[in-house]
Amino acid sequence: MYDVFSLNDFQFPEGFLWGSATAGHQIEGNNIHSSHYHTETTWPESARSGRACNGYELWRQDVDMLAELGHQAYRFSLEWARIEPEEGVWNQDAIDHYRDEMIRLKEKGVKVYLTLLHFTTPFWFEEKGGFSKEENIRYFERFAEKVAPLYAPYADAWFVMNEWFSALQDAHRAFHHIRAHARVYHFLKSISKAPVSSAHMALEMYPNRYFDEFDQLTAAMKNWAVNSVIRHAVRTGELIAPGIDAEDCPEIRGAMDFWALNLYTRELADARHPQIPAPRFPHKKLRMIDMDFYLEEMYPEGTTAMIEYFKDDRPVLISENGCSCDDDRFRIIYITLYLSAVHDAILRGCDVRGYLYWSLMDNFEWNSFLPRFGLVSVDFKTFERTPKPSAYFFRDIIRNNGFSQSILRKYLKELPTLSKV
Ligand code: BGC
Repeated sequence: MYDVFSLNDFQFPEGFLWGSATAGHQIEGNNIHSSHYHTETTWPESARSGRACNGYELWRQDVDMLAELGHQAYRFSLEWARIEPEEGVWNQDAIDHYRDEMIRLKEKGVKVYLTLLHFTTPFWFEEKGGFSKEENIRYFERFAEKVAPLYAPYADAWFVMNEWFSALQDAHRAFHHIRAHARVYHFLKSISKAPVSSAHMALEMYPNRYFDEFDQLTAAMKNWAVNSVIRHAVRTGELIAPGIDAEDCPEIRGAMDFWALNLYTRELADARHPQIPAPRFPHKKLRMIDMDFYLEEMYPEGTTAMIEYFKDDRPVLISENGCSCDDDRFRIIYITLYLSAVHDAILRGCDVRGYLYWSLMDNFEWNSFLPRFGLVSVDFKTFERTPKPSAYFFRDIIRNNGFSQSILRKYLKELPTLSKV
């Protein structure tokens, strides 16, 4: 099923960009003014972010580690709640902190791929209703206007936000996210020459029973709500989502310099249970990763499909791709198969410019430390970082600007079997 040992070697185009991604709340720790942190205080201790990876203190070490592991770009996010802990009150230390991190990244030759908002917002903003209210977008704009000019000398690419709210869950909020992207996009264009995007969770929707027209329709509707909504908006300036009135949004038309796609797996759409993804096919067990997590299925074909789906005259960046597993050999297989899928998309004429692995290190996966996505493991008591074999595998891939059997065989002696079959 995943016969990586018979793959042919493949090369990426010259100048292809390699790196990794993280997000502030997931690595920094003690992000006490964020609404997420506030919510967590009601959760069991084990499920809270707490000190996370202690990344806010250990950032120098992390930047140096990135460079040692050969990463050419680092996508990370600002924590708005640190910078503006109370409405209109700016924390200069936090502003300087991120600037210093950017300076060190540049000194180490690592490109700064800066996300302004990766899910988490300040508590005060959420108390006002957050992005559920269109009038609140102005607070986010004000934040961007405050910090972006300071960081513009260092930013090599901007991501206004990470992943829109799902139009399946709340189409109004999804529209507000897209409007916020558009407004901040135009502001960033006025102060910076660096390309601007937002990372989109490109999730292939797959009919659970491919022959069943109800499943097909459900998959099509979910695809519309998740993928087409933004693709169509950027092409036409029109916001359309299932179940609500369409809206004009002329400022979103063309407001994307490249497609930034977060690619993990597919979702099986089932008309009989439309609200939840269907369970994976049991006979696909061999494509599963040894971890009880919803992203556990290896489905690299979806990556090729989604890149092609977004194909237009803009380049594509894989802004996140990765897997959580305890057995690091699965990560090596996963990276191999997904890079092969990205390469297939390039062979089909897609202009893919780079690949960022999610994530540089094991981190706080929004309500748990159990999923291990990292190239680097973190001891959550001592905060010691230890690169896994996959980190060195990835470094060799970067050095070679491509995949080769000799690299693979250096790090993978045999195919692992699943412990939980
Ligand atoms: C998010 C990350 C998250 C990852 C794995 C991505 O969609 O951007 O924050 O950790 O998925 O679940």
